[in-house]
Amino acid sequence: MRTCNRFGIWFIGARGNVATTTLVGAYALGRGLYPPTGMVTALPEFADQRWPAWDEVPFGGWDVAGTRLQQQAQAIATAAGTLRPEILAGAAAWLDDCDREIRPGTTTGCGDRIREVAGTGHALPTPLAPLIETLQKDLRSFQERHGLDTVVVINLASTEPPPPPQFVGEDLDQLRAAIRRNAAAGLPASVIYAYAAIDAGFPYVNFTPSTGSSGLALRQLAELRGVPHYGNDGKTGETLVKSVLAPLFAMRNLRVLTWQGYNMLGNQDGRVLDDPANKSSKVRSKDHLLPKILGYSPHTHVGIDYVPSLDDWKTAWDLIHFEGFLGTRMTLQFTWQGCDSILAAPLVLDLARLAALAAQRGECGPLTHMASFFKSPMGCTDHDLYSQFARLQRYLAQVATGNEEETPATPPPSFAAEEEGRERH
Ligand SMILES: NC(=O)c1ccc[n+]([C@@H]2O[C@H](COP(=O)([O-])OP(=O)(O)OC[C@H]3O[C@@H](n4cnc5c(N)ncnc54)[C@H](O)[C@@H]3O)[C@@H](O)[C@H]2O)c1
Repeated sequence: MRTCNRFGIWFIGARGNVATTTLVGAYALGRGLYPPTGMVTALPEFADQRWPAWDEVPFGGWDVAGTRLQQQAQAIATAAGTLRPEILAGAAAWLDDCDREIRPGTTTGCGDRIREVAGTGHALPTPLAPLIETLQKDLRSFQERHGLDTVVVINLASTEPPPPPQFVGEDLDQLRAAIRRNAAAGLPASVIYAYAAIDAGFPYVNFTPSTGSSGLALRQLAELRGVPHYGNDGKTGETLVKSVLAPLFAMRNLRVLTWQGYNMLGNQDGRVLDDPANKSSKVRSKDHLLPKILGYSPHTHVGIDYVPSLDDWKTAWDLIHFEGFLGTRMTLQFTWQGCDSILAAPLVLDLARLAALAAQRGECGPLTHMASFFKSPMGCTDHDLYSQFARLQRYLAQVATGNEEETPATPPPSFAAEEEGRERH
């Protein structure tokens, strides 16, 4: 049995639906109120790994909204019906403890919709160098207060628009110079947070489609500091199903002509994604895997519509029009009705465990064995769930024998190269 060191979890977007559901989930798991259904690290593959109990893992984070966690949890319970009243009653003190660990964040480079949703009063001022220092101080004092071996920083904040064309995230020296001169206009908040975490030596995971640590500059920083990191954009619903169904068409040599997908979601995530700039980040993340799995580009469309009354529930309807033997055309349709935060929360806990384990093993750079958790897995060309999961199994076999993770034969592509690849499809 191998034991994972003591870690804490620090959320960016700590008062959001996914973060709050994860906190309530960790409370329930820590007290044995529910089995760990939906958690990958609870599968038999991980039977030899001992993790800290969830009631021993402290949580903190940054947010730009002031809503109390109890209030947010209550709102989720009322609107989505997923958090049971008896659990919330028991979790009240725990949520207050977590609340005390939440610090103000920054809305720089997040776009108007996020600033509007967040309101004012909980965002830090922007001269970049002192801002990054403040964020790093928050992390270090959390680590010290709780006597932790490490703190896993996980981005669960609202989706930002794509970075501006003059994005300075492709060269570490330029990025550092721009931070020093406070000249990185439009540098997205997700990059600032990722920079703060990685530069201070903390593992970083990006569950959102925002840029985070995917630019070359932050990848260089992670190598330099010996820090593991990964992302982008948790694969929890329609794209998860796509990454399972698309290999079927590839393996049977059935030609996909059209893959048309419509997503309807409520909640604040849906409201933010209703802004065309923020939506474009998500659409790109959901749409680029098909050509990579199929080897050609069928006609595709990903629609995302905000339907307020659905709240935390999401409906995806996909129509796949395909061609078989003798040119015969056929159709597959599926409807996915999932609760966004309930699908995401167990994976967030998994990612925290895996990132803490990687940090303990001295791994650094992109954690490609975590590809199966993401829609746009950094530096990984496998997009079907089966080969991605096989990667995780191979990694676990290496952990079991004490071997280091395989180094990829080719270095992971830069953010710009990945973006260019996506544009081509
Ligand atoms: N199944 C899923 O729910 C799922 C899957 C993949 C990705 N995601 C992504 O996870 C993120 C969180 O989803 P959610 O439903 O919890 O959204 P949410 O809107 O409920 O929560 C987002 C939180 O982030 C905060 N925030 C926004 N900008 C911030 C900033 N710059 N700094 C600090 N905090 C900031 C908001 O105040 C809010 O509390 C979104 O980006 C979403 O696209 C979710």
